[in-house]
Amino acid sequence: MPKLLRKAVLPVAGLGTRFLPATKATAKEMLPVVDKPLIQYAVEEARAAGIEQFCLVTGRGKTALVEHFDIAFELEATLRERHKTRELQLLHDAASEPGSIVTVRQQVPLGLGHAIWCARAFIGDDPFAILLPDDLVLADTPCLKQLADAYAETGGNVVAVTEVPREHTNRYGILEIGRDDGRLVEVTGLVEKPDPAVAPSNLSIIGRYVLLPEVITHLARMERGAGNEVQLTDGMAQMIGRTPFHGLRYEGRRFDCGDKVGFLEAQIAFALARPDLAPAIRKFLREYAEVPA
Ligand code: UTP
Repeated sequence: MPKLLRKAVLPVAGLGTRFLPATKATAKEMLPVVDKPLIQYAVEEARAAGIEQFCLVTGRGKTALVEHFDIAFELEATLRERHKTRELQLLHDAASEPGSIVTVRQQVPLGLGHAIWCARAFIGDDPFAILLPDDLVLADTPCLKQLADAYAETGGNVVAVTEVPREHTNRYGILEIGRDDGRLVEVTGLVEKPDPAVAPSNLSIIGRYVLLPEVITHLARMERGAGNEVQLTDGMAQMIGRTPFHGLRYEGRRFDCGDKVGFLEAQIAFALARPDLAPAIRKFLREYAEVPA
């Protein structure tokens, strides 16, 4: 029986330069899709996969992320006085169980691998999930729940994967693959941002992982990889052959909200999935569709 998966690390210390000036004084992960910040989607998805303990890897200017999960006492009191029960419920949904969220500071954004290493005391000897809040997945079964089930099945590392156009392999962590049953793929190698000419496949890792704690030992060596950053992909690659390692072709649609076009597409897709908003959105989309390119 693999150890139960109860912990998640959410790295949120990046600079979000692609969203400047919006991210000058606010965290990228606080940007809303429809009416909920990215970070709340990630925490709700993790809760739906049985996660009970969260570690936010934060940096300077990211305090709003922690505030978001606190109890907003004065706001609640005012809403109660005004009998705004629906809004009160929204506040409660955002708050976390006392003591369930801890934070560590990355101090200097040296890369995703470094951010995960900063959470080493929280991880201890337990398996853990990683969710990059700027990747949003719209799915019937939450993406991390699909990964958690695959972890329970395989007892090893599992990463969510999707096919990308071959000419884009230099933007992502790419898998070298062995056995493939169409859903689970055996991982035989991992490369961060390979040139399309040498990429071992076009299967890319998205921002959802379930990893064994051994990865910390490899990250601790602080070896610099692509972009001179400490890459999580390189740390994970060193576990291949020592522990089971699979890619999961998840069911659902992923939006890269760290990118402007992906972020705008997510607004439309998530709004269309909301019965209260869908008719109005559909109406204006039709009008825009008539605009010549
Ligand atoms: P990105 O590659 O999107 O980088 O990080 P970024 O800094 O957030 O954004 P851009 O590229 O400058 O616009 C992917 C995830 O990893 C976290 C980010 O917060 C984001 O959730 N990250 C990245 C860290 O926590 N620390 C790092 O050193 C790098």
